[in-house]
Amino acid sequence: MKVKYIGESFGIDSLTNGKTYMAIEDNGMYRVVDDSDEDYLYSKINPAPLDGSAPGGKWEIVEQKDEIRKAERIDIYALASLASLPEVWGGNEEELREDFEQLLDSEKDLVAAAEFSGKVVGFANIRLRTDYVAGTKSSPVAYLEGIAVLEEFRGKGIAKKLFEFCAQWAKEKGCTEFGSDCLLTNEASYAFHMALGFKEIERTVHFAKTI
Ligand SMILES: CC(C)(COP(=O)(O)OP(=O)(O)OC[C@H]1O[C@@H](n2cnc3c(N)ncnc32)[C@H](O)[C@@H]1OP(=O)(O)O)[C@@H](O)C(=O)NCCC(=O)NCCS
Repeated sequence: MKVKYIGESFGIDSLTNGKTYMAIEDNGMYRVVDDSDEDYLYSKINPAPLDGSAPGGKWEIVEQKDEIRKAERIDIYALASLASLPEVWGGNEEELREDFEQLLDSEKDLVAAAEFSGKVVGFANIRLRTDYVAGTKSSPVAYLEGIAVLEEFRGKGIAKKLFEFCAQWAKEKGCTEFGSDCLLTNEASYAFHMALGFKEIERTVHFAKTI
């Protein structure tokens, strides 16, 4: 979304009175790409310098759209939080943020974000794979590397819209087939894939051994 800062300008690289900024809700605050071109957290009610050197001001919402769109740098914290779910990629959010930095720059990847009421509530990542993808005949194949929706937003068609957005991108890149996988125990993901028209190809067991 876009917000306008109304109040006394502060900092060399912080907020300027009357200027519009890209923002996203983040745990009750706004993550804002400020005058430094980096994103920082600001109070939603009274954005002000942390050292109290200026009274700060307030935000005016200029644009807020519920949409599926290409993910941007400002979304990285929300993306890493969603991807850290054990059913998705799991792991450390800081490392996942670094992974997303690379994914956003990768020509082979699309990261899509679902924004609702100024908040990222879901994401999907697809990659153009040129290695063999089980059950497919063409190359490259679009592969659904990860998809997740915040629990309280599930069952509203958001993952389906994320998938359709990704499928459109994949078609534009010349793909005619999609591949994907999920754990045998992930019933929601299995049902989601079936509802979207995927066919089950094979069931795999992974092994490991210390040598
Ligand atoms: C899987 C997941 C992304 C689905 O997201 P969602 O936004 O709830 O899915 P949608 O509402 O868009 O559902 C799309 C279709 O899948 C079906 N579906 C989704 N979740 C389902 C469930 N738990 N049980 C049965 N069907 C389900 C819907 O009924 C819908 O079918 P329809 O189009 O015929 O109505 C979500 O449950 C999630 O984030 N899970 C945790 C992360 C995860 O497991 N990711 C997949 C890793 S492989």
